[in-house]
Amino acid sequence: MSKLSNAASRDVETLIHPYTNLATFRDTGPMVLERGKGVYVWDDQGKRYIEGMAGLWCTALGYGNEELVEAASAQMGKLAFTHLFGGKSHDMAIELAEKIKELSPAPASKIFFTNSGSEANDTQIKLLWYFNNARGKPEKKKIISRQKAYHGVTVASASLTGLPIVQNDFDLPIERILHTDCPHHYRFAQDGETEEEFATRLAANLEDMILQEGPETVAAFIAEPIMGAGGVIVPPATYFAKIQQVCRKYDVYMISDEVICGFGRLGDWFGCETYDFTPDSISFAKALTSGYVPMGGLTVPEDMYQAMLDQSRKLGGFGHGYTYTGHPVAAATALKAIEIYEREDIPAHVRALTPLFQSRLKALEDHPLVGEARGAGLVGGVELVADKASKRAFEPQHLVGAACAKAGEANGVIVRAIGDTLAICPPLIITREEVDALFDGIQAALEATEVHVAKKNLRV
Ligand SMILES: Cc1ncc(COP(=O)(O)O)c(C=O)c1O
Repeated sequence: MSKLSNAASRDVETLIHPYTNLATFRDTGPMVLERGKGVYVWDDQGKRYIEGMAGLWCTALGYGNEELVEAASAQMGKLAFTHLFGGKSHDMAIELAEKIKELSPAPASKIFFTNSGSEANDTQIKLLWYFNNARGKPEKKKIISRQKAYHGVTVASASLTGLPIVQNDFDLPIERILHTDCPHHYRFAQDGETEEEFATRLAANLEDMILQEGPETVAAFIAEPIMGAGGVIVPPATYFAKIQQVCRKYDVYMISDEVICGFGRLGDWFGCETYDFTPDSISFAKALTSGYVPMGGLTVPEDMYQAMLDQSRKLGGFGHGYTYTGHPVAAATALKAIEIYEREDIPAHVRALTPLFQSRLKALEDHPLVGEARGAGLVGGVELVADKASKRAFEPQHLVGAACAKAGEANGVIVRAIGDTLAICPPLIITREEVDALFDGIQAALEATEVHVAKKNLRV
Protein backbone atom coordinates (compact mmCIF):
# COMPACT_ATOMS: atom_id res chain seq x y z
CA MET A 1 0.00 0.00 0.00
CA SER A 2 3.09 2.22 0.20
CA LYS A 3 2.59 3.74 -3.27
CA LEU A 4 -0.75 5.24 -2.17
CA SER A 5 -0.88 8.74 -0.73
CA ASN A 6 -1.76 9.24 2.91
CA ALA A 7 -5.43 10.06 2.19
CA ALA A 8 -5.64 7.12 -0.21
CA SER A 9 -4.25 4.64 2.33
CA ARG A 10 -6.63 5.90 5.00
CA ASP A 11 -9.49 5.53 2.54
CA VAL A 12 -8.62 1.95 1.65
CA GLU A 13 -8.55 1.02 5.32
CA THR A 14 -11.82 2.68 6.25
CA LEU A 15 -14.37 3.06 3.45
CA ILE A 16 -16.58 0.69 1.50
CA HIS A 17 -17.02 2.27 -1.94
CA PRO A 18 -20.24 1.80 -3.90
CA TYR A 19 -19.92 0.19 -7.34
CA THR A 20 -16.22 -0.45 -6.99
CA ASN A 21 -14.18 -3.60 -7.42
CA LEU A 22 -13.15 -3.74 -3.78
CA ALA A 23 -10.32 -6.17 -4.57
CA THR A 24 -8.50 -4.17 -7.28
CA PHE A 25 -9.27 -0.96 -5.43
CA ARG A 26 -6.85 -1.97 -2.68
CA ASP A 27 -4.03 -1.47 -5.22
CA THR A 28 -5.36 1.45 -7.25
CA GLY A 29 -6.73 3.51 -4.37
CA PRO A 30 -9.21 6.39 -4.78
CA MET A 31 -9.18 9.59 -6.77
CA VAL A 32 -9.56 12.16 -4.02
CA LEU A 33 -11.33 15.34 -5.12
CA GLU A 34 -10.95 18.50 -3.10
CA ARG A 35 -12.89 21.37 -4.62
CA GLY A 36 -14.93 22.49 -7.61
CA LYS A 37 -15.94 25.59 -9.53
CA GLY A 38 -18.25 25.76 -12.53
CA VAL A 39 -17.76 22.59 -14.59
CA TYR A 40 -14.31 21.95 -13.06
CA VAL A 41 -13.12 19.91 -10.09
CA TRP A 42 -9.61 19.65 -8.63
CA ASP A 43 -8.03 16.60 -7.03
CA ASP A 44 -5.78 16.53 -3.97
CA GLN A 45 -2.71 16.84 -6.21
CA GLY A 46 -4.06 20.12 -7.63
CA LYS A 47 -4.92 18.62 -11.03
CA ARG A 48 -7.99 20.13 -12.74
CA TYR A 49 -10.66 18.12 -14.58
CA ILE A 50 -13.86 18.90 -16.47
CA GLU A 51 -16.49 16.98 -14.51
CA GLY A 52 -17.97 15.29 -17.56
CA MET A 53 -20.35 13.27 -15.39
CA ALA A 54 -21.71 16.16 -13.29
CA GLY A 55 -20.71 13.94 -10.35
CA LEU A 56 -23.24 11.20 -11.02
CA TRP A 57 -25.69 13.07 -13.28
CA CYS A 58 -26.26 15.49 -10.38
CA THR A 59 -24.56 18.87 -10.45
CA ALA A 60 -26.61 20.52 -13.19
CA LEU A 61 -25.60 23.98 -11.98
CA GLY A 62 -21.94 23.06 -11.63
CA TYR A 63 -19.80 23.57 -8.54
CA GLY A 64 -19.51 26.50 -6.16
CA ASN A 65 -22.87 28.04 -7.00
CA GLU A 66 -23.10 30.79 -4.37
CA GLU A 67 -26.87 31.10 -4.57
CA LEU A 68 -27.33 27.44 -3.66
CA VAL A 69 -24.78 27.74 -0.87
CA GLU A 70 -26.57 30.80 0.47
CA ALA A 71 -30.04 29.20 0.26
CA ALA A 72 -28.89 26.11 2.18
CA SER A 73 -26.97 28.14 4.71
CA ALA A 74 -29.83 30.57 5.35
CA GLN A 75 -32.26 27.70 5.91
CA MET A 76 -29.82 25.99 8.26
CA GLY A 77 -29.64 29.18 10.28
CA LYS A 78 -33.41 29.70 10.29
CA LEU A 79 -34.73 26.17 10.89
CA ALA A 80 -32.16 23.42 10.33
CA PHE A 81 -34.55 20.57 10.84
CA THR A 82 -38.16 19.81 11.25
CA HIS A 83 -40.17 16.93 9.81
CA LEU A 84 -43.51 16.17 8.20
CA PHE A 85 -44.60 13.33 10.53
CA GLY A 86 -47.94 13.51 12.33
CA GLY A 87 -49.02 16.65 10.50
CA LYS A 88 -45.98 18.85 11.23
CA SER A 89 -44.92 21.02 8.32
CA HIS A 90 -42.77 23.91 7.14
CA ASP A 91 -42.92 26.49 4.40
CA MET A 92 -40.03 25.14 2.29
CA ALA A 93 -41.63 21.70 1.82
CA ILE A 94 -45.01 23.25 1.04
CA GLU A 95 -43.53 25.64 -1.50
CA LEU A 96 -41.40 22.97 -3.15
CA ALA A 97 -44.34 20.58 -3.48
CA GLU A 98 -46.38 23.37 -5.07
CA LYS A 99 -43.57 24.07 -7.50
CA ILE A 100 -43.14 20.43 -8.50
CA LYS A 101 -46.88 20.01 -8.99
CA GLU A 102 -46.74 22.99 -11.34
CA LEU A 103 -43.81 21.54 -13.32
CA SER A 104 -44.83 17.89 -13.30
CA PRO A 105 -45.57 16.31 -16.68
CA ALA A 106 -47.56 13.62 -14.82
CA PRO A 107 -50.96 14.47 -13.31
CA ALA A 108 -49.82 15.24 -9.76
CA SER A 109 -52.26 15.65 -6.92
CA LYS A 110 -49.60 15.42 -4.18
CA ILE A 111 -45.83 15.11 -3.82
CA PHE A 112 -43.96 12.70 -1.54
CA PHE A 113 -40.32 13.48 -0.76
CA THR A 114 -37.49 11.01 -0.19
CA ASN A 115 -33.71 11.30 0.20
CA SER A 116 -32.72 9.50 -2.98
CA GLY A 117 -33.82 8.02 -6.27
CA SER A 118 -33.79 4.51 -4.81
CA GLU A 119 -36.19 5.54 -2.08
CA ALA A 120 -38.42 7.29 -4.61
CA ASN A 121 -38.77 4.08 -6.64
CA ASP A 122 -39.12 1.97 -3.52
CA THR A 123 -41.97 4.23 -2.46
CA GLN A 124 -43.53 3.93 -5.93
CA ILE A 125 -43.79 0.18 -5.39
CA LYS A 126 -45.18 0.47 -1.88
CA LEU A 127 -47.79 3.03 -2.91
CA LEU A 128 -48.89 0.92 -5.88
CA TRP A 129 -49.39 -2.14 -3.70
CA TYR A 130 -51.21 -0.02 -1.10
CA PHE A 131 -53.36 1.59 -3.81
CA ASN A 132 -54.32 -1.69 -5.44
CA ASN A 133 -55.26 -3.21 -2.10
CA ALA A 134 -57.36 -0.16 -1.34
CA ARG A 135 -59.17 -0.26 -4.66
CA GLY A 136 -60.03 -3.95 -4.31
CA LYS A 137 -57.42 -5.31 -6.76
CA PRO A 138 -55.16 -7.28 -4.41
CA GLU A 139 -53.91 -9.45 -7.29
CA LYS A 140 -52.63 -6.49 -9.28
CA LYS A 141 -49.11 -6.24 -7.87
CA LYS A 142 -46.50 -7.17 -10.49
CA ILE A 143 -44.18 -4.46 -11.74
CA ILE A 144 -42.51 -4.69 -15.13
CA SER A 145 -39.10 -3.12 -15.51
CA ARG A 146 -36.51 -3.67 -18.27
CA GLN A 147 -33.23 -5.48 -18.68
CA LYS A 148 -30.36 -3.02 -18.08
CA ALA A 149 -32.69 -0.62 -16.26
CA TYR A 150 -31.29 1.29 -13.31
CA HIS A 151 -33.75 2.25 -10.60
CA GLY A 152 -31.63 2.06 -7.46
CA VAL A 153 -30.30 -0.32 -4.83
CA THR A 154 -32.78 -0.78 -1.99
CA VAL A 155 -34.22 -4.30 -1.83
CA ALA A 156 -37.19 -3.33 -3.99
CA SER A 157 -35.56 -0.78 -6.29
CA ALA A 158 -32.56 -3.08 -6.89
CA SER A 159 -35.12 -5.66 -7.93
CA LEU A 160 -36.37 -3.20 -10.56
CA THR A 161 -32.79 -2.59 -11.69
CA GLY A 162 -32.00 -4.99 -14.51
CA LEU A 163 -28.27 -5.48 -13.95
CA PRO A 164 -26.79 -8.76 -12.66
CA ILE A 165 -24.13 -7.06 -10.51
CA VAL A 166 -26.89 -5.38 -8.46
CA GLN A 167 -28.74 -8.65 -7.86
CA ASN A 168 -26.30 -11.56 -7.90
CA ASP A 169 -25.72 -13.02 -4.43
CA PHE A 170 -27.94 -10.33 -2.91
CA ASP A 171 -30.83 -12.82 -3.36
CA LEU A 172 -32.63 -10.42 -5.67
CA PRO A 173 -34.95 -9.74 -7.41
CA ILE A 174 -37.86 -10.09 -5.02
CA GLU A 175 -41.05 -11.73 -6.26
CA ARG A 176 -43.51 -9.94 -8.53
CA ILE A 177 -40.85 -7.94 -10.39
CA LEU A 178 -40.43 -8.79 -14.09
CA HIS A 179 -38.04 -7.54 -16.75
CA THR A 180 -38.92 -6.98 -20.37
CA ASP A 181 -36.61 -6.13 -23.29
CA CYS A 182 -33.88 -3.54 -23.24
CA PRO A 183 -34.63 -1.06 -26.06
CA HIS A 184 -31.10 -0.88 -27.44
CA HIS A 185 -31.36 -0.94 -31.22
CA TYR A 186 -27.60 -1.24 -31.86
CA ARG A 187 -27.31 -4.37 -29.72
CA PHE A 188 -30.70 -6.03 -29.85
CA ALA A 189 -32.37 -5.20 -33.18
CA GLN A 190 -32.62 -8.06 -35.65
CA ASP A 191 -30.81 -7.86 -38.98
CA GLY A 192 -32.33 -5.11 -41.11
CA GLU A 193 -34.90 -4.15 -38.46
CA THR A 194 -35.61 -0.40 -38.42
CA GLU A 195 -35.96 1.50 -35.16
CA GLU A 196 -39.73 1.63 -35.68
CA GLU A 197 -39.95 -2.11 -36.33
CA PHE A 198 -37.79 -2.80 -33.30
CA ALA A 199 -40.07 -0.61 -31.17
CA THR A 200 -43.14 -2.43 -32.50
CA ARG A 201 -41.60 -5.79 -31.63
CA LEU A 202 -40.70 -4.67 -28.11
CA ALA A 203 -44.19 -3.27 -27.49
CA ALA A 204 -45.65 -6.58 -28.72
CA ASN A 205 -43.33 -8.47 -26.36
CA LEU A 206 -44.49 -6.28 -23.49
CA GLU A 207 -48.11 -6.99 -24.40
CA ASP A 208 -47.37 -10.72 -24.55
CA MET A 209 -45.77 -10.58 -21.12
CA ILE A 210 -48.79 -8.78 -19.66
CA LEU A 211 -51.19 -11.28 -21.25
CA GLN A 212 -49.14 -14.24 -20.13
CA GLU A 213 -48.98 -13.00 -16.54
CA GLY A 214 -52.63 -11.91 -16.65
CA PRO A 215 -53.38 -8.17 -16.90
CA GLU A 216 -55.24 -8.38 -13.59
CA THR A 217 -51.87 -9.18 -11.92
CA VAL A 218 -49.76 -6.44 -13.55
CA ALA A 219 -49.73 -3.15 -11.63
CA ALA A 220 -47.10 -1.03 -13.37
CA PHE A 221 -44.37 -0.50 -15.91
CA ILE A 222 -41.35 1.61 -14.99
CA ALA A 223 -38.80 3.12 -17.38
CA GLU A 224 -36.09 5.74 -17.61
CA PRO A 225 -36.61 7.93 -20.70
CA ILE A 226 -32.90 7.41 -21.47
CA MET A 227 -31.39 4.45 -19.62
CA GLY A 228 -28.38 5.84 -17.80
CA ALA A 229 -26.40 3.52 -15.57
CA GLY A 230 -27.30 0.51 -17.73
CA GLY A 231 -25.18 1.94 -20.55
CA VAL A 232 -26.72 5.21 -21.80
CA ILE A 233 -29.37 3.67 -24.01
CA VAL A 234 -31.53 5.93 -26.14
CA PRO A 235 -34.98 4.57 -27.00
CA PRO A 236 -35.71 3.77 -30.66
CA ALA A 237 -38.10 6.01 -32.58
CA THR A 238 -41.80 5.49 -31.65
CA TYR A 239 -40.88 3.28 -28.65
CA PHE A 240 -42.61 5.16 -25.85
CA ALA A 241 -45.77 5.90 -27.88
CA LYS A 242 -46.16 2.17 -28.52
CA ILE A 243 -45.32 1.17 -24.95
CA GLN A 244 -47.74 3.73 -23.55
CA GLN A 245 -50.53 2.33 -25.72
CA VAL A 246 -49.97 -1.15 -24.29
CA CYS A 247 -49.90 0.16 -20.71
CA ARG A 248 -53.13 2.10 -21.20
CA LYS A 249 -54.86 -0.90 -22.77
CA TYR A 250 -54.29 -3.06 -19.68
CA ASP A 251 -54.62 -0.46 -16.91
CA VAL A 252 -50.89 -0.69 -16.25
CA TYR A 253 -49.66 2.35 -14.31
CA MET A 254 -46.72 3.96 -16.07
CA ILE A 255 -43.83 5.41 -14.08
CA SER A 256 -41.21 7.60 -15.70
CA ASP A 257 -38.02 7.42 -13.67
CA GLU A 258 -36.73 10.95 -14.22
CA VAL A 259 -33.85 10.69 -11.74
CA ILE A 260 -31.33 11.38 -14.53
CA CYS A 261 -33.43 13.06 -17.21
CA GLY A 262 -35.41 15.42 -14.97
CA PHE A 263 -34.77 19.16 -14.73
CA GLY A 264 -33.49 19.88 -18.21
CA ARG A 265 -30.92 17.21 -19.06
CA LEU A 266 -32.48 16.46 -22.46
CA GLY A 267 -33.56 20.04 -23.23
CA ASP A 268 -37.06 19.69 -21.76
CA TRP A 269 -37.94 19.85 -18.10
CA PHE A 270 -38.51 16.10 -18.06
CA GLY A 271 -37.42 13.24 -20.31
CA CYS A 272 -40.97 11.99 -20.89
CA GLU A 273 -41.66 15.34 -22.58
CA THR A 274 -38.72 14.76 -24.94
CA TYR A 275 -40.06 11.32 -25.81
CA ASP A 276 -43.66 12.47 -25.83
CA PHE A 277 -45.37 10.22 -23.36
CA THR A 278 -47.47 11.01 -20.30
CA PRO A 279 -46.71 8.79 -17.32
CA ASP A 280 -49.01 8.35 -14.34
CA SER A 281 -46.16 9.31 -12.02
CA ILE A 282 -42.55 10.46 -12.09
CA SER A 283 -39.66 9.74 -9.74
CA PHE A 284 -37.02 12.44 -9.42
CA ALA A 285 -33.81 13.20 -7.45
CA LYS A 286 -30.25 14.29 -8.37
CA ALA A 287 -30.64 17.61 -10.29
CA LEU A 288 -33.61 18.49 -8.04
CA THR A 289 -31.03 20.08 -5.75
CA SER A 290 -28.26 20.12 -8.36
CA GLY A 291 -26.83 17.38 -6.14
CA TYR A 292 -25.89 19.86 -3.41
CA VAL A 293 -28.04 18.12 -0.79
CA PRO A 294 -29.62 14.66 -1.01
CA MET A 295 -33.29 14.75 -1.98
CA GLY A 296 -35.70 12.86 -4.22
CA GLY A 297 -39.39 12.32 -4.55
CA LEU A 298 -42.36 11.23 -6.60
CA THR A 299 -45.71 12.51 -7.73
CA VAL A 300 -48.98 10.97 -6.56
CA PRO A 301 -52.06 11.17 -8.81
CA GLU A 302 -55.50 12.04 -7.44
CA ASP A 303 -57.04 8.54 -7.59
CA MET A 304 -54.07 7.11 -5.69
CA TYR A 305 -54.35 9.90 -3.12
CA GLN A 306 -58.07 9.17 -2.67
CA ALA A 307 -57.25 5.50 -2.07
CA MET A 308 -54.61 6.54 0.47
CA LEU A 309 -57.24 8.60 2.26
CA ASP A 310 -59.44 5.51 2.45
CA GLN A 311 -56.51 3.54 3.81
CA SER A 312 -55.95 6.13 6.53
CA ARG A 313 -59.61 5.87 7.53
CA LYS A 314 -59.36 2.10 7.59
CA LEU A 315 -55.90 1.60 9.08
CA GLY A 316 -55.61 4.67 11.26
CA GLY A 317 -52.85 6.41 9.32
CA PHE A 318 -50.36 6.36 6.45
CA GLY A 319 -47.50 4.18 7.66
CA HIS A 320 -44.66 5.29 5.45
CA GLY A 321 -42.13 8.13 5.49
CA TYR A 322 -38.54 9.02 6.20
CA THR A 323 -37.20 11.13 9.04
CA TYR A 324 -35.80 13.44 6.38
CA THR A 325 -38.86 13.48 4.08
CA GLY A 326 -39.06 17.10 2.88
CA HIS A 327 -35.94 18.12 4.84
CA PRO A 328 -35.98 21.93 5.10
CA VAL A 329 -32.37 22.46 4.01
CA ALA A 330 -32.83 20.13 1.02
CA ALA A 331 -36.16 21.75 0.14
CA ALA A 332 -34.68 25.26 0.32
CA THR A 333 -31.80 24.16 -1.91
CA ALA A 334 -34.17 22.52 -4.40
CA LEU A 335 -36.34 25.63 -4.54
CA LYS A 336 -33.31 27.75 -5.29
CA ALA A 337 -32.07 25.30 -7.94
CA ILE A 338 -35.47 25.35 -9.66
CA GLU A 339 -35.57 29.15 -9.44
CA ILE A 340 -32.21 29.25 -11.27
CA TYR A 341 -33.30 26.64 -13.86
CA GLU A 342 -36.30 28.87 -14.62
CA ARG A 343 -34.52 32.22 -14.47
CA GLU A 344 -31.62 31.10 -16.67
CA ASP A 345 -33.91 28.92 -18.79
CA ILE A 346 -31.53 26.00 -18.44
CA PRO A 347 -33.65 23.73 -20.71
CA ALA A 348 -33.27 26.34 -23.50
CA HIS A 349 -29.52 26.53 -22.82
CA VAL A 350 -29.36 22.74 -23.18
CA ARG A 351 -31.32 22.90 -26.45
CA ALA A 352 -28.92 25.57 -27.74
CA LEU A 353 -25.86 23.45 -26.95
CA THR A 354 -27.32 20.12 -28.07
CA PRO A 355 -26.32 20.39 -31.77
CA LEU A 356 -22.67 21.04 -30.87
CA PHE A 357 -22.61 18.39 -28.12
CA GLN A 358 -24.31 15.76 -30.25
CA SER A 359 -22.20 16.49 -33.35
CA ARG A 360 -18.97 16.23 -31.37
CA LEU A 361 -20.31 13.00 -29.85
CA LYS A 362 -21.34 11.51 -33.22
CA ALA A 363 -17.94 12.40 -34.71
CA LEU A 364 -16.35 9.95 -32.25
CA GLU A 365 -17.85 7.13 -34.33
CA ASP A 366 -15.04 7.79 -36.85
CA HIS A 367 -12.62 6.36 -34.30
CA PRO A 368 -11.69 2.68 -34.80
CA LEU A 369 -12.63 1.83 -31.20
CA VAL A 370 -16.13 3.34 -31.25
CA GLY A 371 -18.99 1.06 -32.26
CA GLU A 372 -21.77 3.48 -31.42
CA ALA A 373 -21.88 7.05 -30.09
CA ARG A 374 -25.42 7.79 -28.97
CA GLY A 375 -27.21 10.42 -26.98
CA ALA A 376 -29.73 13.22 -26.66
CA GLY A 377 -29.53 16.67 -25.08
CA LEU A 378 -26.42 16.79 -22.92
CA VAL A 379 -26.15 13.03 -22.51
CA GLY A 380 -23.76 10.85 -24.46
CA GLY A 381 -22.75 7.20 -24.49
CA VAL A 382 -19.70 5.95 -26.37
CA GLU A 383 -19.60 2.18 -26.81
CA LEU A 384 -16.14 0.77 -27.45
CA VAL A 385 -15.89 -2.43 -29.48
CA ALA A 386 -13.14 -4.82 -30.56
CA ASP A 387 -14.53 -4.98 -34.09
CA LYS A 388 -16.76 -2.33 -35.60
CA ALA A 389 -18.08 -4.36 -38.51
CA SER A 390 -19.34 -7.26 -36.40
CA LYS A 391 -19.97 -5.10 -33.27
CA ARG A 392 -17.90 -7.63 -31.35
CA ALA A 393 -17.31 -6.48 -27.78
CA PHE A 394 -13.99 -6.65 -25.95
CA GLU A 395 -13.59 -9.38 -23.37
CA PRO A 396 -14.97 -7.81 -20.15
CA GLN A 397 -11.86 -8.74 -18.16
CA HIS A 398 -9.73 -6.55 -20.43
CA LEU A 399 -11.42 -3.51 -18.87
CA VAL A 400 -11.02 -1.40 -22.00
CA GLY A 401 -13.75 1.06 -20.96
CA ALA A 402 -12.08 1.57 -17.58
CA ALA A 403 -8.73 2.13 -19.29
CA CYS A 404 -10.31 4.76 -21.53
CA ALA A 405 -11.91 6.56 -18.57
CA LYS A 406 -8.52 6.53 -16.86
CA ALA A 407 -6.94 7.99 -20.01
CA GLY A 408 -9.65 10.66 -19.91
CA GLU A 409 -8.52 11.62 -16.42
CA ALA A 410 -4.93 11.87 -17.63
CA ASN A 411 -6.29 14.27 -20.27
CA GLY A 412 -8.24 16.35 -17.74
CA VAL A 413 -11.78 14.99 -18.19
CA ILE A 414 -13.88 12.81 -15.94
CA VAL A 415 -16.23 10.40 -17.70
CA ARG A 416 -17.60 7.10 -16.39
CA ALA A 417 -17.01 3.66 -17.82
CA ILE A 418 -20.11 1.47 -17.68
CA GLY A 419 -18.53 -1.72 -18.93
CA ASP A 420 -17.06 -0.58 -22.23
CA THR A 421 -19.47 2.32 -22.67
CA LEU A 422 -18.31 5.78 -21.62
CA ALA A 423 -21.07 7.88 -20.09
CA ILE A 424 -20.92 11.65 -20.58
CA CYS A 425 -23.28 14.12 -18.89
CA PRO A 426 -21.59 17.39 -17.90
CA PRO A 427 -23.15 20.11 -15.76
CA LEU A 428 -25.92 21.78 -17.75
CA ILE A 429 -24.30 25.19 -17.35
CA ILE A 430 -21.42 24.10 -19.57
CA THR A 431 -20.37 26.58 -22.30
CA ARG A 432 -19.61 25.90 -25.97
CA GLU A 433 -15.87 26.20 -25.32
CA GLU A 434 -16.11 23.74 -22.44
CA VAL A 435 -18.07 21.26 -24.59
CA ASP A 436 -15.23 21.42 -27.11
CA ALA A 437 -12.61 20.97 -24.37
CA LEU A 438 -14.56 18.00 -22.97
CA PHE A 439 -14.67 16.23 -26.34
CA ASP A 440 -11.04 17.12 -27.10
CA GLY A 441 -10.13 15.31 -23.88
CA ILE A 442 -12.29 12.30 -24.78
CA GLN A 443 -10.77 12.17 -28.26
CA ALA A 444 -7.29 12.17 -26.71
CA ALA A 445 -8.39 9.41 -24.33
CA LEU A 446 -9.54 7.31 -27.29
CA GLU A 447 -6.17 7.73 -28.99
CA ALA A 448 -4.37 6.63 -25.83
CA THR A 449 -6.74 3.67 -25.47
CA GLU A 450 -6.11 2.61 -29.07
CA VAL A 451 -2.37 2.49 -28.32
CA HIS A 452 -3.06 0.49 -25.14
CA VAL A 453 -5.35 -1.98 -26.99
CA ALA A 454 -2.81 -2.48 -29.77
CA LYS A 455 0.11 -2.85 -27.38
CA LYS A 456 -1.66 -5.43 -25.24
CA ASN A 457 -3.24 -7.10 -28.25
CA LEU A 458 -6.70 -6.89 -26.68
CA ARG A 459 -8.68 -7.26 -29.92
CA VAL A 460 -8.09 -11.00 -30.20
C1 LIG B 1 -32.68 6.47 -13.29
C2 LIG B 1 -32.23 6.29 -11.88
N1 LIG B 1 -33.12 5.93 -10.95
C3 LIG B 1 -32.76 5.77 -9.67
C4 LIG B 1 -31.46 5.95 -9.27
C5 LIG B 1 -31.09 5.72 -7.83
O1 LIG B 1 -30.85 6.93 -7.23
P1 LIG B 1 -29.98 7.00 -5.87
O2 LIG B 1 -28.60 6.57 -6.21
O3 LIG B 1 -30.13 8.45 -5.49
O4 LIG B 1 -30.64 6.11 -4.89
C6 LIG B 1 -30.51 6.33 -10.19
C7 LIG B 1 -29.10 6.55 -9.80
O5 LIG B 1 -28.22 6.73 -10.61
C8 LIG B 1 -30.89 6.50 -11.54
O6 LIG B 1 -30.00 6.82 -12.47
